[in-house]
Amino acid sequence: MGGDQRDRRSLKLGGHRFVGGAQFSDLAAVNFRKDVLEGLARPQKALPPKYFYDATGSRLFERICRLREYYPTRTELGITRKHLREIARFAGKHCALLEYGSGESLKTRLLIGALEPSVYMPVDISADALRAAVKRLGREFPKLGIVAISADFSHPLSIPAYRGNARRVVYFPGSTIGNLRRDEAQAFLKMTRGQVGPRGAMLVGVDLKKDANVLHAAYNDASGVTAAFNLNLLARINRELGGDFDLRRFAHYAFYNPTAGRIEMHLVAREAHAVNIGNYRFAFGRGESIHTENSYKYSVEEFRHLASNAGFRPARLWTGARGWFGVFGLLAA
Ligand code: AVI
Repeated sequence: MGGDQRDRRSLKLGGHRFVGGAQFSDLAAVNFRKDVLEGLARPQKALPPKYFYDATGSRLFERICRLREYYPTRTELGITRKHLREIARFAGKHCALLEYGSGESLKTRLLIGALEPSVYMPVDISADALRAAVKRLGREFPKLGIVAISADFSHPLSIPAYRGNARRVVYFPGSTIGNLRRDEAQAFLKMTRGQVGPRGAMLVGVDLKKDANVLHAAYNDASGVTAAFNLNLLARINRELGGDFDLRRFAHYAFYNPTAGRIEMHLVAREAHAVNIGNYRFAFGRGESIHTENSYKYSVEEFRHLASNAGFRPARLWTGARGWFGVFGLLAA
C-alpha cells in the first residue's frame, strides 16, 4: 500500500491513530463471503479459523481462555508474570512495539508497563476489538502513543511510518501462530523478520507438544464452550451471508492428529442434508465434516528450526514448570 493511500485510510481518535477502518470492514465482508463459498465447494469442506471472531465468537473465546481445561492462556500469563523483567530486558525499553492481536490481554498490559514503548501498534482483524483495547490502554497508559491497525495479518502488511528510530519488536502471544499451517507460519515469521529490520526482535508465544489427553481435554471442554465457539461459525454465516445452516444438524469434533502434530477441529453433519447460502447450495453426506481449525503444537527444536529458517536467531526461551508452553525471544539474525 502506498503512503498516500495509507494516510487517507487513517483516522485520529482521542489522540490515537486508527489505520484501516471502514474500507477494511467492507473488504473483510467481501472476503468472508468469497472464502466461505470457496471453502464449502472443496472436496474436504473447510473454513478459515480467522472467521471465528465476530462479537459472539470473541466472547466465547474469552470464556475458553478461562476454562479449567484450556491451559495455554493461564500458562502464558504465568510465564510472562514470572519472567517479565528478563523479557523486558530482552526486548529493550522504549522500543516500537507491534502486536499481532488486539492488545486486549493482561499479558500485553504487563509488557507495555515494563517496556514503556515509544509507540504501540496493535494489528487486528476486528476494528471493534481494537477500539475497545485502545480505549482501555489509553486510560491505563495516558502517555502511550497508539497506532491501531485493522488488518488481516494473514496477508502481507506494511507498517505505517512513525517518528523516531526505536528498535522494532513484534509481539505475537497466545499461540495464534499455531493456527497457521507450518508453511504459513514460516512465511509469517519471514514477513515479520522483514518488518523488524536488522536490529529488531520478536516475542512469540507457542503451545508446545505434550500428552495428547491434555490436548484433547483443552479442545473438548466438559461445559461445551469450545463446541459453541465452533458452531458459532455457522451461525455467523447465517447472520452475515444469509445462510440456512441448522446448527442442530452439526456436531463439534476435535482430536489430536499426532502425525501432523496438530489439533484439528471439525463440524460433522449428523445426517445427510443440504445447506443454502444465497443462490449456492451445498450437499452434506452423513458424517461429512467441515474442517474449521488446525492448532499446531511444536517441540522446542521444531520451533527453533522454523524461526532460524525465517532469518531469526532463537536467542531466549521462557517456559513454565511443566514445559507446556514457550515464550520465544527471537533476534534478527
Ligand atoms: C487462538 N488460538 C490460539 C486458539 C487455539 O488454541 O488454537 C483458538 C481455539 N480454538 C479452540 N479453542 C481455542
